[in-house]
Amino acid sequence: MFRVPPIRDWMKTTYDTLLPIWQEIPGWLRENGYEDITSLKSNPTKSMYGANFFDALSKDPRREADFASAMSLQDNIPKVATAQFPWNEAAATFNKRKSDVFVVDVGGGQGQYLARLINEYPGMPGRKIVQDLPTVVAGIDKSNSKLESQAHDFFTPQPVNGARYYHLRGVLHD
Ligand SMILES: C[S@@+](CC[C@H](N)C(=O)[O-])C[C@H]1O[C@@H](n2cnc3c(N)ncnc32)[C@H](O)[C@@H]1O
Repeated sequence: MFRVPPIRDWMKTTYDTLLPIWQEIPGWLRENGYEDITSLKSNPTKSMYGANFFDALSKDPRREADFASAMSLQDNIPKVATAQFPWNEAAATFNKRKSDVFVVDVGGGQGQYLARLINEYPGMPGRKIVQDLPTVVAGIDKSNSKLESQAHDFFTPQPVNGARYYHLRGVLHD
């Protein structure tokens, strides 16, 4: 099983990147009076890596690549993710005159969800754009000509206005 790259990289991420943070938690809580972990200025991740999670990843290409690969795992499972939304109906009501962008995947990693969507619904209209941090977007396989990528920090205003859909999965906690 661990020869399947996203499964292997999920385990590497768990042990190499996440476990050190979890191990930091008891000591951090003790030193901080057992307060809730809510601050970006002081938290176990910062105490462990000297930076918040995605800043730390962006400074470590190996860890970042493992994490990005791990994130593709959920789109390697047949018909789980894309089937949750009526994409065919969505395509039928798409009005290109309002915007030629059908869907933007905000914080979409290396495009795993949109690549899956394009593969399962080849006739899907409009532009499909995956946005993520610059170092993550740089690692996207550009051979899929139906998938556009854009470096964008989702804490800044959205540059693509009026798209039919904005897809967010596994990012609101960030
Ligand atoms: C848990 S992963 C989810 C990835 C993808 N949405 C999925 O479900 O497969 C969170 C993603 O958010 C991205 N991310 C974190 N902070 C970001 C920011 N400030 N702007 C854009 N993307 C960010 C990460 O690089 C990562 O790809």
